[in-house]
Amino acid sequence: MAATTSRVALITGAGRGIGRAIAERLADDGQDIIVADVPSARENIDAVVAAVEQRGQRAVGVTGDVSNPADVERMIQEGTDALGDLDVFIANAGIAQVDEILDVEPDALDRIIDVNIKGVYYSYQAAARKFIAQGTGGKIIAAASIVAFRPFPVLASYSATKWAVRGLTQAAAMEFAKHKITVNAYAPGVVGTAMWDLIDEKLTERDGKPRGSALQEQVDNILAGRVSEPEDVAKLVSYLAGPDSDHMTGQTVLIDGGINFS
Ligand SMILES: NC(=O)c1ccc[n+]([C@@H]2O[C@H](COP(=O)([O-])OP(=O)(O)OC[C@H]3O[C@@H](n4cnc5c(N)ncnc54)[C@H](O)[C@@H]3O)[C@@H](O)[C@H]2O)c1
Repeated sequence: MAATTSRVALITGAGRGIGRAIAERLADDGQDIIVADVPSARENIDAVVAAVEQRGQRAVGVTGDVSNPADVERMIQEGTDALGDLDVFIANAGIAQVDEILDVEPDALDRIIDVNIKGVYYSYQAAARKFIAQGTGGKIIAAASIVAFRPFPVLASYSATKWAVRGLTQAAAMEFAKHKITVNAYAPGVVGTAMWDLIDEKLTERDGKPRGSALQEQVDNILAGRVSEPEDVAKLVSYLAGPDSDHMTGQTVLIDGGINFS
């Protein structure tokens, strides 16, 4: 592989939705991309690798489950073996569950905690270890959500996990600063992805309303007057992943078209 001066970013959950938009935006910014997702997302991963390469940057696909710490370490290893030292790690992977506290089964609660909290925790741990071994410092970024500031009642478990991401981001910023590592999170609002398709499906099923109406109802609460696009979020992540945010750490930044105020 030819030597390069490009920065290298690993993005988890990069096969679709917000993660894919981040991969494409960072490629436009001149970064090489390690496209990470679960093994069943192989086709999506390949499509994102191709999209990054079309933009003139290098890309490699890696597979694993972020709730498994060995997978996270291996994905960093495989990605950096192919593309060189890591500069940015984006813990974007996450899952949603539509639930009310009274109805939640232990297995479902375990899974969302495993992916959304432990997955981000292991990502922060593995990324920081890599940056420390390289002696380079680096940038760690995670997906929080508006529900990290004000929960949605029927997304109780999800809200709790995203609130945890905000807390972990603050603690990691404190612990990693001495290694020249910054840690920040982005907090999207209502973004038109497969995740909201699922939320809308579950909510409308529960309330006996037409499909799509739960998403549409959200628009009334958005000052911008529309649902967010993944690209809206990727613009903020571009800033967090680039040198202009070097003086920022420990922050969870809302990017929601005007739903919540921090
Ligand atoms: N869509 C929204 O409205 C919204 C709002 C706020 C925050 N977020 C957060 O942004 C992130 C991306 O959301 P999205 O809407 O693009 O979701 P999405 O469901 O469209 O994509 C998520 C991706 O993560 C991958 N993934 C899931 N579990 C994984 C695991 N255990 N290991 C590795 N990869 C895994 C999936 O395969 C998928 O490709 C998530 O953390 C989500 O919670 C989304």
